[in-house]
Amino acid sequence: MSTNPVHALDAAHYTDPALFERERERVFRRTWQFAGHVSQLERPGNYFALDLHGRGLFCVKDREGVVRAFYNACCHRAHQLVEGSGHKRVLVCPYHAWTYELDGRLRAAPGADSTPGFDPSAICLTPVRSELVGGFVFVNLDPDAEPMEHWYPGIADALAEYLPDP
Ligand code: FES
Repeated sequence: MSTNPVHALDAAHYTDPALFERERERVFRRTWQFAGHVSQLERPGNYFALDLHGRGLFCVKDREGVVRAFYNACCHRAHQLVEGSGHKRVLVCPYHAWTYELDGRLRAAPGADSTPGFDPSAICLTPVRSELVGGFVFVNLDPDAEPMEHWYPGIADALAEYLPDP
């Protein structure tokens, strides 16, 4: 009797929606994933939105030139903040006009002055871990994730070998 030398995953691993969701949750939402390139964020206010395995995010360059990533959801009623890509001076939610600085801090909210106890300085968009490596923007939905260098030792040098001279 011959044995089959080929070992393959059961077909369900490719088609079962529950397995796919588990893979997204346990792998892709806990590891560093490519989000974009700094050329998409040349000047402060440039942003781009992305879907990372079912989670809406966006990356933006703030006024200090820092590339940041946030969940693409307003702190008020979780409306989507930005679409596609482009440039914004501030981030204005299209639903009730809460307005955020490029670093995620709440700048203004209509009616805030007349709302007892409302403290805008305590409100900030939910950040997502991000790192720049060789001009590539990587994000990780796990706030406790180890840095890229831990997962991929030497990644910056390895990538640099393939980059054009500046
Ligand atoms: S949901 Fe954004 S301002 Fe209300």
